[in-house]
Amino acid sequence: MAVLDILIYPDPRLKQTSSSVSNFDAPLRDFIADLEETMLAHPGCVGLAAPQAGRFERIVVLDVSGKPQVPNNGRLTLINPEIVHADGSAVGREGCLSVPDYTGNVARAEKIALKAFDSHGRERLYRMEGFEARAALHELDHLDGLLFLDRLVSRRNALFRRKNQGRSSAAKTGPS
Ligand code: NI
Repeated sequence: MAVLDILIYPDPRLKQTSSSVSNFDAPLRDFIADLEETMLAHPGCVGLAAPQAGRFERIVVLDVSGKPQVPNNGRLTLINPEIVHADGSAVGREGCLSVPDYTGNVARAEKIALKAFDSHGRERLYRMEGFEARAALHELDHLDGLLFLDRLVSRRNALFRRKNQGRSSAAKTGPS
């Protein structure tokens, strides 16, 4: 297992659209283990998408279970994920490992139903709400080359420079 290097904005590769996974094999699971290890190596990180690690396939790891009182589905691997239902809209602050110096306000659906394959190729359906739904939608955007910077609710007052770099600020907003 290994902690992977993360592409940092404005690396143009972050704008790439990732391709679907078709082989659910051992090398895929090895990569997912590395992606999880990379997520865990960054305190406060609640999700990571494969393209952030330079692998342009539709793979996301997600785990908001460390946040107190946030409804969640535990630690998830979402492969070829698809939103099948979305409800409501709420504005919330987002951070991203690929955008280390800023956070920003983004509108996301409040409740979603999401279909995805697990690492063994089994199809699953998840219902998510609130922070977990926001984190999932943020990660799915990475698969289409979108960052939270592309979705700010306002050009003038929705972007915030992190006051202090490092662990404490990262933990507060949950870079993903
Ligand atoms: Ni991100």
